Amino acid sequence: MNVAEESRAEGRPFEADVAKLLHLMVHSVYSDKDVFLRELISNAADACERLRYEALATPSLLEDDPNPRIVISIDADQRRLTIEDNGIGMNRDEMIEGLGTIARSGTKAFLDRIEASQGAERATLIGQFGVGFYSAFMVADRVDVLSRPAGSGEAWLWSSDGQGTFSVSPADLADAPRRGTRVILHIKEDSKTYTERFTLERIVREQSGHVPVPISIVEKPGAAPAEIADGAALWTKAKADIGTADYTDFYRSIAGQFDEPALIVHFRAEGRHEYTGLIFIPGSRPFDLFDADRKGRIKLYVKRVFITGEAEMLPRYLRFARGLVDSADLPLNISREMIQESPLLGAIKKGLASRVIGELEKLAEKEPEAYAKIWENFGSVLKEGIYEDLERRDALLALSRFKTTSSAVAWRSLKEYVVGLKENQTAIYYLAGDDVERLQASPHLEGFRARGVEVLLLTDPVDSFWVTLGASFDGKPFKSVTQGAADLTLIPRSDAKQTPAAAVDAEVNDFLAFIKATLGEEVEDVRASDRLTDSAVCLVAPESGPDRQLEKLLAGAGRLASISKPILEVNPRHELVTALARLGEGERALKEDAAHLLFDEARVLEGERPANPRAFSDRLARVLRRSVSPAGS
Ligand SMILES: Nc1ncnc2c1ncn2[C@@H]1O[C@H](COP(=O)(O)OP(=O)(O)O)[C@@H](O)[C@H]1O
Ligand SMILES: [Mg+2]
Repeated sequence: MNVAEESRAEGRPFEADVAKLLHLMVHSVYSDKDVFLRELISNAADACERLRYEALATPSLLEDDPNPRIVISIDADQRRLTIEDNGIGMNRDEMIEGLGTIARSGTKAFLDRIEASQGAERATLIGQFGVGFYSAFMVADRVDVLSRPAGSGEAWLWSSDGQGTFSVSPADLADAPRRGTRVILHIKEDSKTYTERFTLERIVREQSGHVPVPISIVEKPGAAPAEIADGAALWTKAKADIGTADYTDFYRSIAGQFDEPALIVHFRAEGRHEYTGLIFIPGSRPFDLFDADRKGRIKLYVKRVFITGEAEMLPRYLRFARGLVDSADLPLNISREMIQESPLLGAIKKGLASRVIGELEKLAEKEPEAYAKIWENFGSVLKEGIYEDLERRDALLALSRFKTTSSAVAWRSLKEYVVGLKENQTAIYYLAGDDVERLQASPHLEGFRARGVEVLLLTDPVDSFWVTLGASFDGKPFKSVTQGAADLTLIPRSDAKQTPAAAVDAEVNDFLAFIKATLGEEVEDVRASDRLTDSAVCLVAPESGPDRQLEKLLAGAGRLASISKPILEVNPRHELVTALARLGEGERALKEDAAHLLFDEARVLEGERPANPRAFSDRLARVLRRSVSPAGS
């Protein structure tokens, strides 16, 4: 080794996120340390699968060692555990990249949540996120990685004690595997059980029995390897031969999730295209669910050879699904880029999406509670499909579940909603906002409540988008209760208090005109409302254009220059309104204050601030003072 290389080998700091993750691992409160083995075996299997793929184009990479394998070796005396594969291997840069940074998406979200959590919750979180290679530091106080890339004459040694730095240096070929990677764990005193064959075999059986590469174990230095997992691909087996636990283990190893799958879709498509799909809907939200890239995680295999994880086999709105597709028809000797263009792949994708949606429909029908859990976790993602996938819009609307004014706790389907339509009701009404509780207090709902009309309470940001598409369900359009005229006069009130909007007396009409003149440019219009029964005022959006919630979202995202002027609706039968309307010309100042205050009240009810906080507080003070010591007294 020359001097330059030696100095390069000196401690490099880990990337900040890695350092945080390592700290978590070393001081792990996570009791289930067994998972480190699954992570290392899954990396070894990935490396074998990547080599198998590269060898399609370059068979010479395999040399005289064509069969992939993973070998676990124990040296109890030295307290050493070694996991070795004959896969693709890593060169120096790949080591620095792969073992010094975290490319895994969702890491940021994971670390943020970890930092905000404590104790038991923290342990659960660690369990949900596959922490990858670094989990080795839960059981080892030093990890050495020796690797020789396929087809290369060089080998490298990566080494770290997990305390913030690592080193990479050239290694002697004689010390390195002939091809692939050897991960050597110097096991901590308190983790000695991981140098016992019994423990290791149990963990492999429980966690990694279905990885598509055979695994053997070497009990002590010099002993012969014994096979403990045969590497048969689980998805090729008959459904009847696969137990729930097998599926769960496989799901965990392929998905990097540590929960139970909420739905398993395993099928063989025959006929025009032959392929096998094994898709899992996770039981909890993966950490990368809201990553900006919205990438899917379905792996593509061709005749059991792993091709790519980047083929986007399902639409984006199903990106929470995990699993694989194995095609019998796609040519093996085709590049990843070419595969993407293949019409065959298009057909498979279509079939796969239909299958997954079909299974969700079945579950919704047969086990509504199990489906509700899936909806709870992934509904906000599925709804993206309502505007992205025209072809499946109706199916997705039928799968959608809502909180409503009649059912704020249990989820309601649109099918249930339309069954409860009131006489003369021609639309499905909704109110969009941040949270169900706030929405329920909204004055806009009063007229609907008085008529027993159910209103959907939409609280996901995505809701404001799909409702504006002109979509309909069962022939009924979606209509915002904060937009346009409410058209409620035709629907009879269930409390029998018939109060047609037309019968607004002249004094009140004059007062409305006065408010409009006073507010001037601040409002589009001021008008009598038939949507209010108890409150005095509310704001609504004009008939055309976006509803107020969507406008706020767009403006917040910088996609809309300004929010359009609202219409102030006034309840013409409200005691305060009629009293103000009766005030004479001598009370003009009070009426002006009242006009502004009514407008500010409507804004506050929407979660906004008064138009002009200073002026608001002055007006409020004047009016309060008057009520404490009435004018003239
Ligand atoms: N046995 C191995 N052979 C080849 N590359 C490996 C091996 N183990 C780890 N790596 C590299 O290190 C990276 C990080 O591994 P890991 O932390 O488990 O994350 P992930 O497997 O999700 O990418 C891998 O993506 C891979 O590039
Ligand atoms: Mg990994």
